[in-house]
Amino acid sequence: MKVQAPSTRGLLPSEYLLSLVRPDQPIPGDPLPEIALAGRANVGKSSLLNLLVGRKALARVSATPGKTRALNVFRWGDVCHLVDVPGYGWSKAGHADRAAWRKLVDGYVTERPALRGVLWLLDIRHEPSVDDRAFGALLAQRRIPVLPVLTKADKIGRSKRDACVAAIARALDADPGSLLVTSAHTREGQEALRDAVLAFVP
Ligand code: GTP
Ligand code: MG
Repeated sequence: MKVQAPSTRGLLPSEYLLSLVRPDQPIPGDPLPEIALAGRANVGKSSLLNLLVGRKALARVSATPGKTRALNVFRWGDVCHLVDVPGYGWSKAGHADRAAWRKLVDGYVTERPALRGVLWLLDIRHEPSVDDRAFGALLAQRRIPVLPVLTKADKIGRSKRDACVAAIARALDADPGSLLVTSAHTREGQEALRDAVLAFVP
C-alpha cells in the first residue's frame, strides 16, 4: 500500500461548529455554502471529511455504524460548511431510527437553500445497494450537483479496480471517469476531492 505524502496545499483552518438536529436549523456565523457528505453507514464519510481538510481526526471515525445521528457541521476555511450526514442502510436501525433519519436527511437535501453540492459516497467494492439507489433518486429529484465518490480504494487490488469502477458507473448510468476514486488510508484522491469541492462553490 503506497501512502501519499500529506499535501500542504489547501490546509485551510477547519473546525467543528455544531450538530444540526433539524433540517432547517441555521448555522451561526458567516453564511457559507454547504457541501454534504452522504452515503450508507460505515462507507467512510467521516474519514473522507478528514482527508479533505487534511486533519487526522476532525470528524469522529467509528468502527460501529450508525453513531452519527445529527448533521455534523464543520467549517473549511472560508470556502464552505462541510456537512457530515448520518448514514443510511444501517442494519440495526429500527423503525423509529429510520423515520428520524428520513425526516432529517430528506428534509435537509430537499429544502436547504445553502446546499450547493453533495459528495455521494459509495464503497468501491460493492455495486450500489437498494438504499443507495433510493438515495440517488432523492438527489436526482432535488437537482443538486452530485459527485459520486468511491471510498476504500486501498481495499481492492489494482487489477480489480477498473472493473469495480465500471460496474458502479454502469449501475449509476454515469461515465466511469466522472467517479472520484479515493482512499482515506493512502490519501489517494485528496487533491481531486478538494478541487471538486471548490468547483461546487461559487
Ligand atoms: P458512520 O458515521 O457510522 O455512518 O460511518 P462513516 O461513513 O462516517 O465511516 P467512517 O469514516 O467512520 O469509517 C468507517 C470505517 O471504515 C472505519 O473503520 C474506517 O477506519 C474505515 N475506513 C474509512 N475510510 C477508509 C479507507 O479509505 N480505507 C480503509 N481501508 N478503511 C476505511
Ligand atoms: Mg461518520
